[in-house]
Amino acid sequence: MNNQSLMDRRNNAVPRGVATATPLFVKRAKNAEIWDVEDNRYIDFAAGIAVVNTGHCNPAVTQAVTEQINQFSHTAFQVAGYENYITLAERLNALAPIEDAKTILMTTGAEALENAVKIARHYTKRSGVIAFHGGFHGRTLLTMGMTGKIAPYKEGFGPFPGDIYHVPFPVPYQGIDTAYSLRQLEKLFKTDISPSSVAAIVIEPIQGEGGFYAAPPELMQKLRALCDEHGIVLVFDEVQTGFGRTGKTFASEHFDVQPDIITVAKALAGGYPLSGIIGKSDIMDSPAPGGLGGTYGGSPVGCAAALAVLDELESKNLNASAEEIGGRLYQALVDIKTRQPWLPVNHIRHKGAMIAFDFVTGEEPEPSLIAPFVKACRENGLILLPCGQFGNAIRLLPPLTVESDILDEAIEIIEKSLLNLV
Ligand SMILES: Cc1ncc(COP(=O)(O)O)c(C=O)c1O
Repeated sequence: MNNQSLMDRRNNAVPRGVATATPLFVKRAKNAEIWDVEDNRYIDFAAGIAVVNTGHCNPAVTQAVTEQINQFSHTAFQVAGYENYITLAERLNALAPIEDAKTILMTTGAEALENAVKIARHYTKRSGVIAFHGGFHGRTLLTMGMTGKIAPYKEGFGPFPGDIYHVPFPVPYQGIDTAYSLRQLEKLFKTDISPSSVAAIVIEPIQGEGGFYAAPPELMQKLRALCDEHGIVLVFDEVQTGFGRTGKTFASEHFDVQPDIITVAKALAGGYPLSGIIGKSDIMDSPAPGGLGGTYGGSPVGCAAALAVLDELESKNLNASAEEIGGRLYQALVDIKTRQPWLPVNHIRHKGAMIAFDFVTGEEPEPSLIAPFVKACRENGLILLPCGQFGNAIRLLPPLTVESDILDEAIEIIEKSLLNLV
């Protein structure tokens, strides 16, 4: 068995619609490293798309899961409950920057967003949803509708559910500042939907797939004020930013505003499928019994993993690690650019360990460099992912437990691969 034979079998058996970003097949993984079926070793700076913040095969997570599956693995919470669901809800309620919170657990990020909208609609008795250009909220029909990027996520999959509107997300270097975004929102209220018909405004505190751009604090403050004025539910989508990634347990904590609902998934259970909707209890309690749920929602295995993840975050102070790792990678990229100013690397940015840079020549996005760069990194032993509205950004998402020497090795690979490009 080798990578090529598995790729051939995959191409015969699996539709091309689910892309495989790297042409390798994994045999095992440990902390920040992956070995493929040919025993090639890679540093993993994708972390399963910001999932294994606590590292691959984290021993504490594995132990918690093992103990759980030896007790029971599934009952369906809505059939017969279990304690670790409740304990996890209690801990998330206490950790989230929302007063008097309640939490419901689901399975995927998209499902968390779907349910956030369902709950907001039920509570407000309105249907409108406002999201942002460049935002990504999932691949189900409703969340595709909320996603603000056409190719490859929406192309050919419409029509999408109605009453969803988009406004520009501020990215100053692309000529969109907060004032412009807010003017477009006010205009939307005049031209397309009355604020009194809007159930929810949904925003990522730091856009993930959209390019790792942080929402400006003044935007969040104004959104909070508008939501308060018009009785709209403010939803922060923290599926990618949650659980230490940005140097805080929730990226929402970087802002001086409280959302009404936070959606979480990915790193919550460190590699096991689990998501959650954390929100103000009066909003969360709006739907009647039976209106929310799902067969696998809040799986006891996922809950066991998540409780271990939260313990690891606290005991290892992974929020501080995210700051340190992000700071080192950011500085290394700045140093590489200073040493070789001709490299088309620009707009180096980070919030904790959410680090990105853009390929830009002159003022123009340069997406054509992404594929060769990702390939060169892979051939040199580093897995990383692109992102960005124009497909010209590289994002670095190391596990927050990455060893120092592995971080240095990755930095060397990035520099070497950049120099091979030009
Ligand atoms: C911000 C954000 N929301 C929602 C989702 C959808 O999550 P899932 O792929 O688990 O459905 C993602 C996935 O990348 C995401 O980054």
